[in-house]
Amino acid sequence: MSARPRVVITRKIPAACEAEAARLFDAVVNRDDTPLTASQLQEALRAADALLPTVTDKVTAEVLSAEPLRAKIIANFGVGFNNIDISAARARGLTVTNTPDVLTDDTADIGITLLLTVARRAAEGDRHVRRKEWTGWRPTHMLGARVSGKTLGLIGFGRIARAVARRAHHGFGMKVIFHDPFPPKPEDAAALGAEPRESIDAVLAESDFVSLHCPATPETRHLINATRLGQMQRHAFLINTARGDVVDEAALVAALQAGTIAGAGLDVFEKEPQVSPELLTMENVVLLPHLGSATMETRVAMGMRALENLTLHFAGQPVRDRVV
Ligand code: 8YV
Repeated sequence: MSARPRVVITRKIPAACEAEAARLFDAVVNRDDTPLTASQLQEALRAADALLPTVTDKVTAEVLSAEPLRAKIIANFGVGFNNIDISAARARGLTVTNTPDVLTDDTADIGITLLLTVARRAAEGDRHVRRKEWTGWRPTHMLGARVSGKTLGLIGFGRIARAVARRAHHGFGMKVIFHDPFPPKPEDAAALGAEPRESIDAVLAESDFVSLHCPATPETRHLINATRLGQMQRHAFLINTARGDVVDEAALVAALQAGTIAGAGLDVFEKEPQVSPELLTMENVVLLPHLGSATMETRVAMGMRALENLTLHFAGQPVRDRVV
């Protein structure tokens, strides 16, 4: 019998990370690569010393009530950890870690991708060409909205928001404004050309593009609701690379149908992988399948970071990225 810690990895992860996991631990990978059920997650918590889950594993209070609980640590593969009931994990004495930093730039790149794609109608144009509908250049064909020099409003000003601000300000000459309940040092914001605003509402009213960068918590659920969507300008676009439940998706559909905002670029959805059917038919909406961190480089770095947290934990040392 192996004396090495047993780690259940709930999805396939990049080969380099799986090899490292096998070198370090008695690692069990879910070869089916489909989300584990609640009872499978409970079985993992009973049979393993650690769980390495992803955003698709709902580690609820019920899952965490597993008895006897052998696992001592949950090393989440992702910076967001709203898939885990943090207070239940705390109550059960579990350590929870995440993978910050390593996905910041790639997620910011996806935010900018969505912003440019929706403003310049790039996905719509691609569909147009593929459908052989393009009859040739003309001065009024498929006109979009200019990005350069416009105002970008950030809701939340953490790592990813700052990386978006850097790209937008230094790359596109955008005016960047933000609201965050935990504001940065003025000089840090100034280096990114970003100006604070006193409220979310002030950011919404002033922005040509609004990009969401707050964590998903009970407090931020439906932060962007019908009222807040109504505060945006008619020509403004909403970009979401944070979490789906920060936006009331039904209210977003209604705002888009009524034309009270110009469009949306979404990487995350309230009921992932389900997407409100109305969105699928809208040309002024860009829909991506949660690609924020989806580069080989970042996914390998995320896996290695989760394994580093596990290694430190099993060595009896403080973990690097403790959230509980
Ligand atoms: C991950 C993410 O791919 O890290 C996050 O919070 O949203 C994504 O980049 C996802 O969480 C995988 O678990």
